[in-house]
Amino acid sequence: MIRGKTILLGITGGIAAYKGAALCSKLVQAGAQVHVIMTESATKFITPLTLQTLSRNPVHIDTFDERDPSVVSHIHLADHADLIVVAPATAGSIAKLAGGFADDMLSTTLLAATCPVLIAPAMNVHMYEHPAVVRNMDLLASRGAMFVEPGTGQLACGYVAKGRLAEPEDIVLAVQAWFARGKTLSGKKVLVTAGGTIERLDPVRYLTNDSSGKMGFAIAEAALLMGADVTVVAGRTTERPPSGVRLIRAQSAQEMLNAVLPLYPEMDVVVKSAAVADYRPVQTYDQKIKKTGETLVLELERTTDILQTLGERKTHQLLVGFAAETQEVERYAMDKLKRKNCDLIVANDVGAEGAGFNVETNEVQIYGPQGLVEALPLMSKRETAGRIMDVVARRLGTGGGGSGS
Ligand code: PMT
Repeated sequence: MIRGKTILLGITGGIAAYKGAALCSKLVQAGAQVHVIMTESATKFITPLTLQTLSRNPVHIDTFDERDPSVVSHIHLADHADLIVVAPATAGSIAKLAGGFADDMLSTTLLAATCPVLIAPAMNVHMYEHPAVVRNMDLLASRGAMFVEPGTGQLACGYVAKGRLAEPEDIVLAVQAWFARGKTLSGKKVLVTAGGTIERLDPVRYLTNDSSGKMGFAIAEAALLMGADVTVVAGRTTERPPSGVRLIRAQSAQEMLNAVLPLYPEMDVVVKSAAVADYRPVQTYDQKIKKTGETLVLELERTTDILQTLGERKTHQLLVGFAAETQEVERYAMDKLKRKNCDLIVANDVGAEGAGFNVETNEVQIYGPQGLVEALPLMSKRETAGRIMDVVARRLGTGGGGSGS
């Protein structure tokens, strides 16, 4: 998929620049022609010679260092790239690109480029969440830039938080996904629900679950990479939603239902990865419940099943449910698929190691009305999401690679 493609790799000046070497090497191994542009600051973290050796091409740093008189380097590079990957992308480089600045080789080339741009941000979590950075990323996404979200973990500054550059393998996956899937969901409207719902008991207490939103946001990101117009209805999440989606927040199951229903008629695909409460307290209190007796009995009532409601009202939409099970996964998943009138159901054993709630990986089986469509091994949620959306594209008849039945 990557073989023979020309990829411009922009490396900017953050500590994660060292991962640019691994990324460059993996892209070259996958068969791409890689041309590297480094900012001056990036050269403080990793030497151009490393990138030159790995890419087997000269590394560009200075706009005025014109080595070939027959071309203007930044225009030539921009014109011949199939894809530009900026990894790591610092807050400064994102701001420059959003603002249209052209004061070094990378920003000038980016401004001259008409090919797609994939941005992998890496920075301190407070910088990543700063409204200016969020606004710049949203602006770039609205112009068509794609993002590979940073991971959560130990940051160089000492924080354990979101902001680590996505692993080079994940960035290569996103590149592969883009080339392989191209725009197989182009023109399609995809609605994804993500995260867990909150059912209030009193002003300070609520019932919820462990959903982080990782799975749902990964699905949204995969759909974006495949060219879809993506809306996310998100409950309680610990993750930042991918840039480029229309985001609607909903707390309770009822709010999620109210958000989803009016959008449903215009959607082509709905993926219900949210963990929605099955029950809510019958009574909610305006004041904090006082500690009185030795026991407290809460009466709960059923919430409306959003997926089932969508199944009942289905016209043309491809409806994908999730099934979180801890036993007899296939039997319960197939039961949900039929009862809720889904076209596909993604079953995960949420009791299994590395799968389900609030972990970076998942292991899922995808079922259709005729039974198992695909059983995926344990892999990152990003990769899982890409594979799920591949099946969706095949079902819509827009993706290559077999019937998916
Ligand atoms: O967010 P993460 O931390 O990444 O975790 C991912 C996940 C484990 C939450 C996800 O992979 C997952 O399994 N999501 C579905 C969780 C769930 O609610 O499963 P369920 O088997 O209880 O429900 C079946 C389906 O009905 C789901 O699509 C659910 O969204 C839907 N449902 C359930 C109840 C309800 N009232 N309305 C619904 O729409």
